[in-house]
Amino acid sequence: MAIAFKQETFRDDFSYRNSPENIRRFPFPFDRDEYMYSVNMEPHVKGQKGTVYESLIDVDEHYVAEMRDRALVLKEDPLRYQALPHMMTAQWDTLELLMEEQAAGYPEHFSLIKNGDQWRWINRPLGIDDSFTFGDRSTLPYEPFEYITRQAQGDFCIVDQRDGNLWMDAGMVTTQADWSLDFDIGMNFMEWHGPVPLAHQIGVFDRALKFLLNLQQGKPTRRFNWTMTINPRLDTSPENYPKWGPDRTTVTPDNVGEKVHLRVELQSLWRLPRSNAILFVIRCYLMNMSELITVPKWARRFPRVLRTLPPELIDYKGLTRFRETTIDWLSKYDDGASTSPGF
Ligand code: HEM
Repeated sequence: MAIAFKQETFRDDFSYRNSPENIRRFPFPFDRDEYMYSVNMEPHVKGQKGTVYESLIDVDEHYVAEMRDRALVLKEDPLRYQALPHMMTAQWDTLELLMEEQAAGYPEHFSLIKNGDQWRWINRPLGIDDSFTFGDRSTLPYEPFEYITRQAQGDFCIVDQRDGNLWMDAGMVTTQADWSLDFDIGMNFMEWHGPVPLAHQIGVFDRALKFLLNLQQGKPTRRFNWTMTINPRLDTSPENYPKWGPDRTTVTPDNVGEKVHLRVELQSLWRLPRSNAILFVIRCYLMNMSELITVPKWARRFPRVLRTLPPELIDYKGLTRFRETTIDWLSKYDDGASTSPGF
């Protein structure tokens, strides 16, 4: 069925909202009443209709507005897209993967027609119809990775595999939770994860790296991460901290419902065929607290998660200034019923 794309903003008047159908497909990430880092990876396989796993590269009602927001970010700061010179093969791998997955998942919106290396790509929501030669950079208006990630929801890193490690050697990062591609470019897996508390000590990153080094083509994997954002702002980058950092001080008992958002990242990892690099997709979903409480089991569980969060995570995720106010507001909706793990 065709998606009705919304006209909305992630800045200024913040008109972003989820439709009731979109709330129902929101990937609420908690399977118990508390949260701690873990190597929470599972095969990235298709799920039921009406879930975010309906297609392996998910497109939803926010697609057009998100692509507009990305274009605005890139105009202000072109360094949100970077690719080191040796990543050109991986760029083409990524273009192929994203075109194929979007065309397979949403044939009414996207088409890919291949005739040898002569390809035609039609993106109806954005009004694009381009013919190009696969492998020939000069036949596209941008580098292939930039071209396709201006047309795909989520942030993207391509990590190169060499010397038993992964290296962040390309990225399109405009909707990140307070980290910077420009700072991390060229770093390895342990270096860019340097600021994360507790996880190094409990061996999460050693095990995750070992797992990823053995990732196989055709068997993508996924995991969730989450944080919270004030206002439905996609671009919470360190570069723009002065624009959004102060928002954290504006939360009051009267505006929690509209201002405070749960921000969930569905991260998927794909081995690329020609380059042997890995594509890391960070697909971001935002939902405000008024939307969240429309699902009673989420309203019950989320304040419990927030209440029992380790202090290091509260600090690292930047929740200190508004966590208590949010818990108080949400607690009205926790009827005290027990919730069992997995529910
Ligand atoms: C955070 C990148 C895979 C676990 C981060 C950050 C970046 C990042 C840039 C922010 C660090 C900062 O504060 O500056 C990546 C990339 C990956 C990858 C490019 C793929 C190659 C994984 C995997 C795990 C993982 C497989 C699984 C255990 C985490 C955790 C955090 C984190 C727990 C902290 C998140 C939070 O509390 O909000 N990652 N990551 N990452 N990453 Fe990864």
